[in-house]
Order: sequence, then structure tokens, then C-alpha cells
Amino acid sequence: MSNNLTAPSAIVLAAGQGTRMRSRIPKVLHPLAGRPLILHVLDALAAAGVSRPVVVTGHGGDAVEAAIGGRAITARQQPQRGTGDAVRVGLDALDLREGAVLVAMGDSPMMSPAAYGRLIEAQRASGARLALLSARLADPSGYGRVVRDADGRVAAIVEEADADAAVRALDEVNAGAYAFDLAWLSGAISRVPTSASGELYLTDVIALAAAEGCPAAVVTADDPADVMGINDRVGLAAAEERMRRRIAEAHMRNGVTIVDPSTTRIDADVEIGQDARIEPWTILSGATVIAQDAVIGPHANVRDSHIGPRTTVWASVVEESTVAEDVAIGPYAHLRPGAEVGARCRIGNFAEIKNSRLGADTQQHHFSYLGDAEIGGDVNVGAGSVTANFDGRAKHRTTVGDHVSLGVDTMMVAPVTIGEGAITGAGSVVTRDVAPGKTVVGIPARPITPRRTARGTGPAKASEPAGEAPVPSGTDRNT
Ligand code: UD1
Ligand code: CA
Repeated sequence: MSNNLTAPSAIVLAAGQGTRMRSRIPKVLHPLAGRPLILHVLDALAAAGVSRPVVVTGHGGDAVEAAIGGRAITARQQPQRGTGDAVRVGLDALDLREGAVLVAMGDSPMMSPAAYGRLIEAQRASGARLALLSARLADPSGYGRVVRDADGRVAAIVEEADADAAVRALDEVNAGAYAFDLAWLSGAISRVPTSASGELYLTDVIALAAAEGCPAAVVTADDPADVMGINDRVGLAAAEERMRRRIAEAHMRNGVTIVDPSTTRIDADVEIGQDARIEPWTILSGATVIAQDAVIGPHANVRDSHIGPRTTVWASVVEESTVAEDVAIGPYAHLRPGAEVGARCRIGNFAEIKNSRLGADTQQHHFSYLGDAEIGGDVNVGAGSVTANFDGRAKHRTTVGDHVSLGVDTMMVAPVTIGEGAITGAGSVVTRDVAPGKTVVGIPARPITPRRTARGTGPAKASEPAGEAPVPSGTDRNT
């Protein structure tokens, strides 16, 4: 299959409306394991060695073409007159006139690369005009049936709508994936009759081949799940379950522990390192990367994020964020887009971080909000500390230097900078910049001269204004 000189081409049919989905979104753009159906098909074809697929678009064509990006040539079928008509449109756009061509359905995302490869081999080896993929299904309803003659050769494919009771009782179905002799298909497609429904059925070329005394070769699907075509949302959910199981098994074979695959959902594009452990009730979605030895879950929801080695994420939500190594997150933390958390940080109960960077060894143990902030390393964020980043009109940034200790309930009214090693008292409202090493207390926070310089060492006396009550620094570093 990987011989470049004979790399097969392919036509993918994706122009239909998908009426049975009852959706305003084109069927082939509905996501399966976090990725549109059509991209699963293109991925499988690429893995099978197909170099120049043509995707036939039509219904919702602009959106479908945008999702495909530069991954395929596209050709418009307008109006959509059936799968036979769609193939004719695809053939016109192909830059080849002979050799083999695969035809795939854009709504059949479970097809394995191996199945496409076997079709190409079977067509070549048999010299038949085409090879088709079939499967025996316990419930064949909705699929075209493979009708064989007395000698077991394929005589025709009959669509369910046109089938009598005897044909409906057949359990061998047409998967909708084929390898054709391209030159023969180009001629045969123009001889397809109009069906009772007014459509041109691609499947009618199978009877044409049989009538020419050269019936289709048949490849049987290794896994009946391969053939699943998505026609409605019940089918989509069934495919999701199968796909989820496949993805989980691939990770487990790769050295990832998934404690309970039935309650774990991992999108197709997620990468997970060796010896990572995914605990139950966990959802990993989008372009997420989990490094080795990380422990994610139980009850974690991580989307489009990068989680470093040995980091733990317990019962928390992480979106579009980057977390370094040896960090502990949760339970009940929320990292919103743009959170960057340094090594060995501790992000605890009801901590929220948005568009903010935290240096290494920083702690935010208890309910607290850091937004649009640059937080240094070895900072202790006292319980209840909040960046007031929005003044009703615009967002402003907060900068906190290394080794700062923010007393419990510190309000940082942005824009504001708290210098390296500074300390804020419990309940202080910081409205002006704090110089490095200073201690500030009160509302609004003012500098005081602490009796002792070590951080968090109890009562200190305000230096101005005279007579202001002493305020404990209120840090909670060891709690
Ligand atoms: C088709 C096959 C059926 C097979 C099944 C496998 C035909 C006539 N029937 O039926 O034998 O068992 O797939 O899943 O081929 N499309 C177009 N243009 C059109 C019509 C459809 O591009 O004018 C595309 C659709 O977007 C879809 C694919 O072709 O991706 C299949 O169309 P669909 O209507 O779902 O065919 P089925 O009834 O499932
Ligand atoms: Ca279908």
C-alpha cells in the first residue's frame, strides 16, 4: 500500500444533506470523538496511502470545505442527485484517468486504513472491475444488501427502500467503500439508470459489472463496526461509544492506565504519555497533551491543554492552559484559557486562574481568583485573594513578584504591581504599587514597618498614619 509510484487516489462523498440528522449543521461536520466525521475519513485514507483525495461537497459546501482546509481537492455537486451522480462529479475533478480509485462515504468515519488497503489489493489481485467491502450485521437495517447469485457471486446491491422481504432478510450489507478500476468506472457511471426515487445510485454499477460477466470482488470487514455509516443521531451516539472504546484501547496498548474506560472520554487528537493514569469520570478533549506519569481525575475535564509530567488534576476543569511538571491541581479548581502554571505549584480548592502566569513553587490553596496577572515564583496566595482586573470598562494587569506573601483576602486593584518579597496584610485592598520587600496593610493598603522582617510573623504596627490598628499579616502558608 505504501508504494508511492502506485499511490491510489480516492473520491469521498460528502455532498448529501443528511436529512435524517435533522440538523442545520451538515452531517459530515458533526463531531465524533471531538473531530468532524469527514476528517476521520480523510485520516483513514491518508493512513492507507491515498495522496490526492477528491471530496465531493454540496449541502453546506462552504462550511465543509473550510473544515477540510487544504487536505483534499474539493468538487461541488449541485444539486445532489444521489451517490452515482456524486461520483461522476468526483471523477471529473480527478487528475487521473486510469489505475485504481477508492470511493469512500464521508459519513463512514469508523473505516480502518487497513480496510481501504485491502480493497485496493483485492481489486488489483482479482482484476475485477471493482472490489467492495461487506459485513454481516445482526441488524442490517438501513444498509444496501449484497445480493449473490446461485454460485455466490455478487449480482447486485439493492437499497433497503427498493428491497422486497427476501432481500431485506439478507444480513450481508454494503459498507459503501469500494476500489474501482478507474477507466471502467468512468464509463459505467454514465450508464447508471435513474432510480425510483429519482436519484442515481452508485450501487447500481455493481449489477452492471455482474452483467458484463465480471462481478465485484468482495472484502469482508475484519470488524463489523468498521462499516457503520452515520445517518442519524442515534447512529452518531453508537459510533461515539465504539470510537471512544477504540481510542481508549489504543492508549492502553501504548502504556497508559485507564482505570475505567466506560466512564472516560478521550478525543481522537489527545496525546498521553507512558504510565500516565486516567482515573474514572474524566474527559480529555481537543488538542490536549498529557505528559508521562501524570494522574488525571477522577472527575477531571481537560480541554486543549498541556499537562506536565507527574502533575495531578483532581476533580477540576482545565481549558486552554499549560501546566508544568509536579503540579497538584484541585479538587474544584478552574483553569481558564491562558493559565500558565509553573512547576510544583499547588492550586487548590475553588481556585480560579485566567490569562495569568504563575512561577514555580507558587501556592494558591484556597478560594481565590487570579486574572490577567503575572505571578512570580514561591508566592503564597492567601485564601480569598482576588485580582480586581476589571474596572467596568477595561481589563487591567496585576504583577506580583517572587516570594511575595499575599495575606488572606488581599484585593489587588489592577493595574498594580507588588514588588518581590513584599507582604500584604489580611483584608488589605492594594490600590497602589508596593515596593519590593515592603509590608502593606489596610484599606487602601499602606506601608507599615513590621516589628520583625521575617514573613508571616504575626502582628506589626502601622507606621502611618500614626495610631492605626495593628493588622496580622494573615498568611496561610502552612495550611
Ligand atoms: C449508501 C449506499 C448503501 C450503503 C450505505 C453504507 C448508495 C445508493 N447506497 O446508502 O448501499 O449500505 O451507503 O453506509 O450509495 N452523498 C452525496 N451526494 C448525493 C447523495 C449522497 O455526496 O447526492 C453522500 C452523502 O453526503 C454521504 C454518502 O454520500 O456521505 C452516502 O449517502 P447516504 O444518503 O447516507 O447513503 P445511504 O442511504 O447511507
Ligand atoms: Ca449513509
